[in-house]
Amino acid sequence: MAAGPGVTPRPLETALTRHAGIDVPLLCGAMYPCSNPELVAAVSEAGALGIVQPISLTYVHGHEFRAGLRLIRQLTARPIGMNALIEQSSRTYRQRMERWVDVALEEGVRFFVTSLGNPRWVAERVHAAGGVVYHDVTELKWAEKGRDAGVDGLIAVNRAAGGHPGTRDAAALLEEVGGLGLPVVSAGGIGDEQAFAEALRQGHAGAQLGTRFIATEECRAAPAYKQAILDATEDDIVLSKRITGVPVAVIRTPYVERAGLEAGALARWMLRHRRTRHLMRTIYALRSIWQLKRASLAESGSHEYWQAGRSVGDIHAIESAGDIVRRFAAAASAERERGAVNSRP
Ligand SMILES: Cc1cc2nc3c(=O)[nH]c(=O)nc-3n(C[C@H](O)[C@H](O)[C@H](O)COP(=O)(O)O)c2cc1C
Repeated sequence: MAAGPGVTPRPLETALTRHAGIDVPLLCGAMYPCSNPELVAAVSEAGALGIVQPISLTYVHGHEFRAGLRLIRQLTARPIGMNALIEQSSRTYRQRMERWVDVALEEGVRFFVTSLGNPRWVAERVHAAGGVVYHDVTELKWAEKGRDAGVDGLIAVNRAAGGHPGTRDAAALLEEVGGLGLPVVSAGGIGDEQAFAEALRQGHAGAQLGTRFIATEECRAAPAYKQAILDATEDDIVLSKRITGVPVAVIRTPYVERAGLEAGALARWMLRHRRTRHLMRTIYALRSIWQLKRASLAESGSHEYWQAGRSVGDIHAIESAGDIVRRFAAAASAERERGAVNSRP
């Protein structure tokens, strides 16, 4: 793709930029509830790739799915991606996700990020339309499952990530999943341009960022949430099982301290037993969707879970998403000029 105005003049070409048709090997990862159309569009318009989170687009930001995609299209003509969180346990949810993937393909989306579950059905549909699928993984087992399902790339989610983090650090995870013949994108802990350049230097084909893009002008999260990201240090990030039953990275606030980090006794009991496990997971899914929506938009934060990863330590200002993409691209391009960045992983 030719570099347009405001886009880095020397595209940092990697497998990711070729697959996604973008200039800067950087994804603004899907974020429930923080992915709003304006944020997704701003990242793509600057030459990177904004990823749509369908539940965030529809339930939090109030757009009918196809209309939401068209709204983004009005803001940028550049490529965008979509996140397909593959939750196996509910047939209704699976059918809705299939519909969303089909609508996204009809609307011209050709880059998909899958998380959890088996991405085979997504890969089949997307490949039939000429698109690509990158799969979020936290260890070799899931990477092999993704490869066997036919995905085109991996997103290695490390222990520093926001959302549901992995357990490995970035270099160890690249070492573990890097031998499968698929490009590997680093997710987690990247808050500034040095960390982005470092991820490319390690041999990643790009980076997926979440937390950095919450503290932007375009993100619709409440000002108090953005300020909490600016104020937090890496040590303020804790893993709470109280929201979804599995660890979610959140900022330690007085509320989080009072609530504790473990799932409640009843929830733990229900998750242990086969007959009640499914019901408890459904309760968690529905409750967390409501709870996190409220949290991202509420002003006080006194009863909220604010999700963020350890990259908070490197985030010191609310900026426009485009400025972030351009600054990151400039730093990585400068390194590449000096010959330090792996230009074609
Ligand atoms: C608030 C928040 C919500 C997220 N929601 C999702 C999601 O719905 N689906 C998903 O695949 N990843 C989700 N993630 C993970 C991000 O897409 C990305 O992989 C991660 O944020 C990278 O780590 P970083 O926050 O340190 O940059 C979320 C992350 C955050 C911070």
